[in-house]
Amino acid sequence: MSDAVDAERLDRGIEHALHRHSDYGAEVLDEEHVASDPLVQFDRWLAEADARGVYEANAMVLATVDPDGTPSSRTVLLRGVDDRGFVFYTDRESRKGRALAAHPTATLLFPWYALHRQVIVTGDVDLVDDEESDAYWAGRPYGSRISASASRQSQPIGSRAELEAAVAALEEQYAGVDEVGRPERWGGYRLRPWRVEFWQGRTSRLHDRLVFAREPGADAAGWRLERLQP
Ligand SMILES: Cc1cc2nc3c(=O)[nH]c(=O)nc-3n(C[C@H](O)[C@H](O)[C@H](O)COP(=O)(O)O)c2cc1C
Repeated sequence: MSDAVDAERLDRGIEHALHRHSDYGAEVLDEEHVASDPLVQFDRWLAEADARGVYEANAMVLATVDPDGTPSSRTVLLRGVDDRGFVFYTDRESRKGRALAAHPTATLLFPWYALHRQVIVTGDVDLVDDEESDAYWAGRPYGSRISASASRQSQPIGSRAELEAAVAALEEQYAGVDEVGRPERWGGYRLRPWRVEFWQGRTSRLHDRLVFAREPGADAAGWRLERLQP
């Protein structure tokens, strides 16, 4: 690295960012208080993250495996969670869509740093059915529906102007009409979890890690709870 680049990085305070040692809080996650069902525990922590002001508490990092075996990840928003699993919406022809078609197993990571908490969920992924995807699509703002219709997510495009022209053309097509149909390529996925890890930061890096795991196909009560070393 050149001296000039080195000096600029120091000016920006990168050294401070890289070498800070925050000591994580006094909160505890133990076997006595954790819910017996990880989805119930997840609901508790999501509600707390939201109530305690975590920005976009439902944002999660989705990790997938590309058809050629390359791992990839990106943020998506959790749009539903119940006994059947965790739901998100996207373009099924995007990079993640192609990855999930080839390897329908994924990991979701909720990075609630401000609370010294992290949840990591792994499971098998199915398509959400058309009826459910339609219902979610219908509730999206008009502008979001136009943008998703105009954009072939993850495909290259020559310029911002081309993208905006595609949006303008659709806006003209749908002028005065709110019925922007859901593109066939756009829809939901549901991840059915078989491993859920709850991580609570503790002082001196002696963190709490509780993992729920179940054999594929086990019933809802079939969770095994295990503590991992930090
Ligand atoms: C806070 C946040 C929320 C996002 N939510 C979504 C989402 O719900 N669905 C989606 O397709 N992309 C969402 N994105 C964009 C994705 O991170 C990503 O850029 C896009 O889906 C293309 O990913 P891919 O090329 O790996 O398929 C979000 C990004 C951020 C930063």
